Amino acid sequence: MSTGMKTLTGVLLMGSALLSEALAETSNARAWEDRSLPADERARSMVDAMSLDEQISLLRTESGFGLLSLGVPLPPTVPESMRKYTPKGAIGSAGFVAGIPRVGMPAQQMSDASLGVANLGGFVRRGDEATSLPASLALAATFDPALAREAGRMVGAEAHAKGFNVQLAGGVNLTREPRNGRNFEYAGEDPLLSGIIIGEQIAGIQSQHVIATTKHFALNSQETGRFVHDAVIDEAALRESDLLAFQIAIEQGQPGAVMCAYNRINGAYACENSFLLQTVLKGEWQYPGWVMSDWGAVHSLQASLTAGLDQESPQDEPYFGGLKEAVGKGGIPAQRVAEAAQRIVRSFFAIGAIDNPAQPGRAIDQVAHADVAERVALSGMVLLKNDGVLPLAKNAKRVAVIGGFADRGVLSGGGSSQVMPYGGHFLDKRGREGIAALLAPVYGLSSPLQALKELRSDTQFEFDDGADPKRAAELARAVDVAIVFATRAEEEGMDSADFSLPHAQDALIDAVASVKPHAVVVLETGNPTGMPWLSKVGAVLQAWYPGQRGGQAIAKILTGIVSPSGRLPMTFPRSADQLPRPAIPGFDPARRTPFGLGAPVEPFAIHFEEGSDVGYRWFERAKAEPLFAFGHGLTYTTFTYRDLRLNVGAELRATFKLTNTGSRPGIETAQLYAAPPGRTHRLVGWHRVELQPGESRTVTIEADPRLLASYEREKGWHRAAGKFRVFVGPSAAKRAIHGEAKLEPKHSTVNEDTRRS
Ligand code: BGC
Repeated sequence: MSTGMKTLTGVLLMGSALLSEALAETSNARAWEDRSLPADERARSMVDAMSLDEQISLLRTESGFGLLSLGVPLPPTVPESMRKYTPKGAIGSAGFVAGIPRVGMPAQQMSDASLGVANLGGFVRRGDEATSLPASLALAATFDPALAREAGRMVGAEAHAKGFNVQLAGGVNLTREPRNGRNFEYAGEDPLLSGIIIGEQIAGIQSQHVIATTKHFALNSQETGRFVHDAVIDEAALRESDLLAFQIAIEQGQPGAVMCAYNRINGAYACENSFLLQTVLKGEWQYPGWVMSDWGAVHSLQASLTAGLDQESPQDEPYFGGLKEAVGKGGIPAQRVAEAAQRIVRSFFAIGAIDNPAQPGRAIDQVAHADVAERVALSGMVLLKNDGVLPLAKNAKRVAVIGGFADRGVLSGGGSSQVMPYGGHFLDKRGREGIAALLAPVYGLSSPLQALKELRSDTQFEFDDGADPKRAAELARAVDVAIVFATRAEEEGMDSADFSLPHAQDALIDAVASVKPHAVVVLETGNPTGMPWLSKVGAVLQAWYPGQRGGQAIAKILTGIVSPSGRLPMTFPRSADQLPRPAIPGFDPARRTPFGLGAPVEPFAIHFEEGSDVGYRWFERAKAEPLFAFGHGLTYTTFTYRDLRLNVGAELRATFKLTNTGSRPGIETAQLYAAPPGRTHRLVGWHRVELQPGESRTVTIEADPRLLASYEREKGWHRAAGKFRVFVGPSAAKRAIHGEAKLEPKHSTVNEDTRRS
């Protein structure tokens, strides 16, 4: 080869090497666009391509809605963070983070969503309605994980079609306080049930490429003093109860985000609690998503970021505003900022929110979605008592329907989760003024009275609004059957003072029941009520907040078109004296305001002496008999349990025979409970079984190994040696068949013991 040729070849070779390097660089630089790469890698390459300013921008959420955009004078209680105009590009919701178009990072459009796509007060997005799901308590009462996933899928699909890519949904705080105003957003008192139901809801939402956020991490068990109280609890007890619920929900649903709570836990605020965020969540559980704060829950920059908080939600004093300066001064390593950004972007890739972007204005199948809401309502209503008056007899020709706005609609729970249901709504403004009137209890227009009339055209239904108990009782006396509807609104920021029904409804029921034997009571409430009239009435249907087609669902259950099958996800106490804390710590009726705004409370501690014996476990320990036990729920037939066999060894499995002994088909939720030596019984598994009249089935329930283990500080998670007491039955208080099991003791790390196969 001539020298000239060599030079030419050399130049060409060099050129092609440079070219391929350049090409490689380009493709590496935008490696996040390669859908075949794992989410972590895609996120890392995208975050690497961002400037520090861009990374920081992802960690600061602003309110996705500004009240100034309403153009009306604002009351002084409205926080500074909301005295703004809706940011450019925001759809209008709780939170917004602008996107970074240069690298293809979309805006974070965050909406509340426990019960559907929320639209607080109906003014956040004027006129925007959504399918309203029944209370999460109803979802838990179904004991039906597949239905929980469907409900989540429905919410996710609606969010996606409305342009939201982050849902602040996945509330899993255990019911430690049955007067807590937000229990309706959570799934009851049991860690296994709550964890599985909410985990499935999360998985359903995320199947639609919308990120779900489990919350409020952790021990946000009452609204009273929620911004300041300190939840004091033993570490082992915390791990066996509230943390276990989160752990199961996270494993099951793999939510993209976790929201830390307002309160303190053992002295440190949840959003700067390194035990919770660093040691447990990100350390032991290896959680790969991001931690966002609750709105206004951040109290520091350095301490929060170091403890594991990744993103600051809107608040009056935004500490993360000082982030760039802190990095510049070396107080916070740039690496920590990149890691926090990486966690956010990773979730967006992992859930497909970047590859399948949400966009407003897409079509929503309202009919199919209403059907999902109705199925949750039908499966989640709990028949607490029935002396045979239900289902309504065919020969009941005149029926009185009394109270509860049953002629117009059904109630929902209030606060940030508020959905404005499709088809319209009305507000119950009784006793409310100013901002509280704007946020008054919302009724969706699904009238039980109307639905009853449609289902039973040969029956005469007569309505009385219940305002005058005497008049209502007169009507009741004249008809074949009287049905009283009673409602009690629960809402964010406000706990209930006691278990009574407001607006003198206990007296109304008493007046009706005094003249009309076998009266039926339908309760639309988000917590237990005291029911001082219980012995006088014939039947009680716990309908919770029954959602979009709640009226139709109530009517179908009352008339027997569908048999009830819901089970209580929380214990109903006889009185407050039976509770670990008879009075709500810090409760002051004068300081009950929506969201707890404008009524500051001095910090105080709540001592959770009951430890992990929450709800029914506390009742067992205290040897107290509740009004209605956890797991309780009747249907229109009866069941017997026989022939318990326990398979023991490494695991625990119970096999038994279940028979429908009545004359109608029905669903039984058989529950398996086990008590480690010296401890109270815990729900370790359940099975929903549908049986025809006279049909028997052999049923097997596997115990979840996590619930057989206990936590001790020195030993970690371990399964104790010795005999476990075991029973199967229809509730925590009914031991239909029981036995004892000697399980092999097992010591293991948290993850081995608790990870599901
Ligand atoms: C609530 C959160 C909610 C947030 C945004 C807070 O007041 O505690 O559950 O997601 O507001 O609306």
